[in-house]
Order: sequence, then structure tokens, then C-alpha cells
Amino acid sequence: MAAQKQTVLIIGGTGAQGTPVVKELSKSNNYFIKVLTRSPSSASALTLSNLPNVTLISGDGYNEKDLHSAFIDISIAFVNLNGFAIGEKAELYWGIRIFEIAAEHGVKHFIWASLDSSYQISSYEPRFRTGHFEGKSKVADWISAQKMGDGAMKWSVLTSCMYLETFSEMLAPAKEMVDGEEVVVFKAPVGNGMPPMIYLEDLGKYARWLVEYPEKSNGLNLKIATANVGWEEVAKSFTEVTGKKAVFKDISLEEYFASGVFGDADRKVGHSVGHEDDTLMTYRENFSGFWNTWREDVLKRSKKDYELLDEILPERVQSVGEWMKLTGYTGERTNVLKDYADAGRKKPQ
Ligand SMILES: NC(=O)c1ccc[n+]([C@@H]2O[C@H](COP(=O)([O-])OP(=O)(O)OC[C@H]3O[C@@H](n4cnc5c(N)ncnc54)[C@H](OP(=O)(O)O)[C@@H]3O)[C@@H](O)[C@H]2O)c1
Repeated sequence: MAAQKQTVLIIGGTGAQGTPVVKELSKSNNYFIKVLTRSPSSASALTLSNLPNVTLISGDGYNEKDLHSAFIDISIAFVNLNGFAIGEKAELYWGIRIFEIAAEHGVKHFIWASLDSSYQISSYEPRFRTGHFEGKSKVADWISAQKMGDGAMKWSVLTSCMYLETFSEMLAPAKEMVDGEEVVVFKAPVGNGMPPMIYLEDLGKYARWLVEYPEKSNGLNLKIATANVGWEEVAKSFTEVTGKKAVFKDISLEEYFASGVFGDADRKVGHSVGHEDDTLMTYRENFSGFWNTWREDVLKRSKKDYELLDEILPERVQSVGEWMKLTGYTGERTNVLKDYADAGRKKPQ
């Protein structure tokens, strides 16, 4: 007799990261998938609801009552909280609380979508402190200290990194005329840094692997990336793939924020919470920590990390050039983050 399908709850399933996870699990045909969303009529929610085995649940992932309802009859959970929407303090609270609620409801396997903390890894150098790394990373540390075995809920951590798709939104290149010739310019305050970046479809496949092989993934913090990406390579790959002239222009943090990438950079992160909270960082503070981290190469993936990724996903995309070719990358702006689309910021300046 075929094994009964288990039900997976995805929190953050309608987002850029959660969507490929839902799609991969749907494709496997081995699971029922429930996606918790505040707006079942959003474009991304409707797309998911048309996939096989997928059901939407209406509710807020930062609400005790909605969470208790959502976790009924759930065997596996994949949880990606939105640190940009709620800030570090709330992410820390809800990450821990959602783990506890999952355990109360008898969930067998809890998967936490995380990010590394450059602040912690650098022994707390303030110039690397990045709020949206901190919430996720601290919850991952707390989860890693939970009891294992003896019927305890299994847990895994999926530590990701910047999406390659960001090159179509926040990091999309500009077109400039240089000596009468159009040149595509990739600008970022990154210097010679090489941040790890991930192709979102592959992220979905790694999440599926964590779900499908709990005996291997229990207690594992899987650190994923497509490659450590340098911006000179980005420009070079773009030219190779599109035939168009491209350059990388290193810019200072001041130039970056002055470009209006976040509108008013001195407003606080946490667009879904009140801002009368001194613990919330401003965009300038948060993204200074972010770019200082990449410029100084504080977070990378090691040879060992990539060896494991090759073993898990031999067909994985391995470079930014391969990603550009595979996805038909043109440098044009498009919506990647649901947050951006919801805010009507299709073409951030
Ligand atoms: N951008 C990157 O390169 C990157 C890389 C790695 C990790 N991350 C992390 O991923 C998280 C964001 O997820 P994403 O990249 O999938 O973003 P996204 O595309 O903007 O999606 C946002 C998700 O958050 C959900 N959400 C729940 N409550 C929310 C609220 N009160 N306000 C806003 N959204 C809410 C949305 O669900 P509904 O609207 O359907 O309720 C949606 O699923 C952040 O913590 C970020 O640090 C980002």
C-alpha cells in the first residue's frame, strides 16, 4: 500500500523564497502542502493555489491563534519569516514561538530558513551588524540547542544568502552612454567582495531534499549558495551571455543610499510594525552592515559546503554566468520580492 501523504505547512510560501519551495514539493506529488498567507487573493497566492496538492490557509504567521489553527495535522514545517517586515526583535520572538507551537502540535520535522550572522562571526564588529541576518541567525542557534532524539521534533536549518534574482530588482544594472556607446553598468558598494548568492529554483530543490531525507537532514544546518559572486565576473558574464558591453562600478555607501534605493534610508525597517521601537535599525544602518559584510568577505561558502551541495544536487547551477544563460537574463527590472510588488515598487529608482 502506498504511504500516506504527509502535510507540509509553509510559512512565507507566497514570497520569493517560499514559492520555489512550494513548487518543488508540489512537483514531487508526495505531500499535501498548506501555505499560510494573509492574502489568499494575491497574485502569488493564486498562482500557488493552482498547483497540484497545494491549499492556501488564510492567516497571519505572527498571530498565536492563526498559528495554532495552521499547525493542526501538520507533519513538516518550512518557515521563512519576513525579517524586513517585522524587524529583528519580533523575528527572534516569532521564530522561537513558532518552533514551540509546531512541537506542541506534534510536528515531526521543522525546517528554519536562516541567514548567517556576520556580526557574530566577526566577534561582534559593529560595522557588520545587519538586523535581517540577526533574527534568523539567533533563532537558528536556539533551535540548534534543542533536544534531539527520544521522539523530539526533528529540525533542520537552511541557511541561504542573497538571491541571484536580486540582479533583476534591487541590483539591476543601469544603462549609461559612454563615449557615444550604451554601456550596462552594475553598481554596488561591494568592491572586490564575493558574496555567496543563490538561484531560487535550486533553493527550492535543497528544501525538498531536507524534507525528503529527514534521517540525513535532522540536526543539519545546510549552507547553500550557487557561487561566491564577484561583480567584475557579473559584468563579464553579462557581456558573454548578451553580447552587450557591461562594466562594474564600485560605489561608496554614501552614493548607494543617495541613489534612493530605499527612498528615505533613515527610516526604520519593519514596514509591518510600529516604529516606536528603539531596537529597529534604519535602512542605512541595516544595509551598511550588509554591504560591509560583503565588501570584506565576512561570509563565504567553503569548498566543503560546495562539496556537500554537489552531492545533494549534482545538476545545480554553479555560476552567475550559467544562471544568466539558463534564465535568459537581460538586466531588465522585474518584480522579485512580494514585498516590493505589494508596495508598488516595480521600478525602484
Ligand atoms: N532578498 C534576499 O536576497 C534574501 C535572501 C535570503 C533571505 N532573505 C530573507 O527572506 C525574508 C523575506 O522573504 P522573501 O524573500 O520571500 O520576501 P518576499 O518575496 O517579499 O515575501 C514576503 C513573504 O512574507 C510574508 N509575510 C507574512 N507576514 C507579513 C507581513 N506582516 N508583512 C509582509 N510580509 C509578510 C508574505 O506572505 P503574505 O503576504 O502572503 O501573507 C510573503 O510570503 C526576509 O527575512 C529576508 O531577510 C532574503
